[in-house]
Amino acid sequence: MQDRTRPPRGGFRFSGPDLNPHPIAVFDSGLGGLTVLRALRGRLPHEDYFYFADTRFLPYGERPEVFLRERGVLIAEALARRGAKALVIACNTATAAAEAIRAASTLPIVALEPGVKPAAALSTHGIIGVLATTRTLQSERFQRLVGQHANNLRVLAQPCPGLAEAIETQGPESAEVAALLDLYVAPLAAAGADVVVLGCTHYPWEAAAIARRMPPGT
Ligand code: DGL
Repeated sequence: MQDRTRPPRGGFRFSGPDLNPHPIAVFDSGLGGLTVLRALRGRLPHEDYFYFADTRFLPYGERPEVFLRERGVLIAEALARRGAKALVIACNTATAAAEAIRAASTLPIVALEPGVKPAAALSTHGIIGVLATTRTLQSERFQRLVGQHANNLRVLAQPCPGLAEAIETQGPESAEVAALLDLYVAPLAAAGADVVVLGCTHYPWEAAAIARRMPPGT
């Protein structure tokens, strides 16, 4: 018979909400990180969140790494002061500064980078396209990522200057965004990429429009 007055043997497992009620802070240069927040809320519905969009300094994509470091450290400090228990850098571009932000902050920090590893596993042609900001593609982190996971593949790294900003300021369905997508997606289709990585958190807003510009099944 089970003794209900004592915890089960084999240790106490708690699978309910986190006992720490403080919110998880999520930040990006703008609306892009909302695509990450949506995924987080799906996986961790018991958590409380707050979201910080650094729209005053949008876009991050063409800024030097030192700017992203300094800005990231300031944001992490401000969000810690407001009671965040953890910080999600929901921005591939700002992730270039993740080590510096971690070193300066007391918060646990989760960052993200383009999905090169899953893309490499999915590709049958051995050609993958990566759409991202100029800063992300120029970062050492990205070079490392490709070296680790896609060394034997052809990786078409396509910078998309202006795209995140146009999504944000002109709207996801604007003519400006459509023109930039034509420009940036066409080379990937022409080169035979069979997987496209959306390496900026703004781009999932355009997932269907990007898919329409690639061969079916990409
Ligand atoms: N959403 C950001 C990313 O994931 C950057 C957009 C910007 O250029 O500000 O890279």
